Amino acid sequence: MRSPVPARIVSPSLVAGFAGETSAWGRPGTPLMIEIGCGNGHFLEEYAALYPGTDCLGIDLRIKRVEKSCRKADRKGLSNLRFMLGDAFAILAGMPPGVLADRIAVNFPDPWPKYRHRDNRLNRSEAIAAMLARISPGGDFVWVCDYYPQIVDVLARMQPWLYKGEFENVHGWEGYGEGLEGYPRTLYEKRWRAMGRRIYYLRFVRRQDSLSGEQSPARASAIQHMVGGGSGCGKGASVSAAGQDAPDLL
Ligand SMILES: C[S@@+](CC[C@H](N)C(=O)[O-])C[C@H]1O[C@@H](n2cnc3c(N)ncnc32)[C@H](O)[C@@H]1O
Repeated sequence: MRSPVPARIVSPSLVAGFAGETSAWGRPGTPLMIEIGCGNGHFLEEYAALYPGTDCLGIDLRIKRVEKSCRKADRKGLSNLRFMLGDAFAILAGMPPGVLADRIAVNFPDPWPKYRHRDNRLNRSEAIAAMLARISPGGDFVWVCDYYPQIVDVLARMQPWLYKGEFENVHGWEGYGEGLEGYPRTLYEKRWRAMGRRIYYLRFVRRQDSLSGEQSPARASAIQHMVGGGSGCGKGASVSAAGQDAPDLL
């Protein structure tokens, strides 16, 4: 019989049952942060150490990466850090209805620039919809990458949620930032920045009144600590995606 708090890693065949258990998603009443496509878990390891009061969950398709991530979490004794193996969207679909994340992050997803690979992209409208549907009121959706065309694409796909008033872009309708306070830099970010490349940050906050979820004051304050109060962008970073300094990565 599986324990009520399952092991950090599950085989693909167990994912559906595992993800359907509320306890698999973290401790009740504790803010939850999910990284979609967490790779080797470097970012989440740092994030979980920085926010011990937040349950952090990484999801990745590749078993070697998930195994490596789990070993790291064990070595560091990070009990608030877990990983699931499988397609993030199959896993999110199996998430129990009452469970919402306070932050869903996508860091440096593979760009899959070729048209024939478009179904692999995380920036598909249905993939974005699946992630947004799992974010709590007051929680946020963060997307970080160095690939400008992808940023423009995500901004365009987010417009219906902005028009409906369900989410707000903290950088303005078509804006992005160049950093986020309290958000560790991934290895990719460190590497690209060292090479002089520009990194783009998108952050969309779900409006408090857009879902009928209720929060305890303690949970609300923990979320506030995690997602921050202001725009969270780096110094002077919010510029229009259509701005003239933008397309230098194309
Ligand atoms: C370029 S890596 C980025 C890793 C990490 N986010 C970082 O910034 O270091 C992209 C990762 O997304 C994973 N991935 C791609 N599509 C996925 C999906 N549908 N579900 C889960 N993981 C996925 C890949 O296996 C890969 O490890």
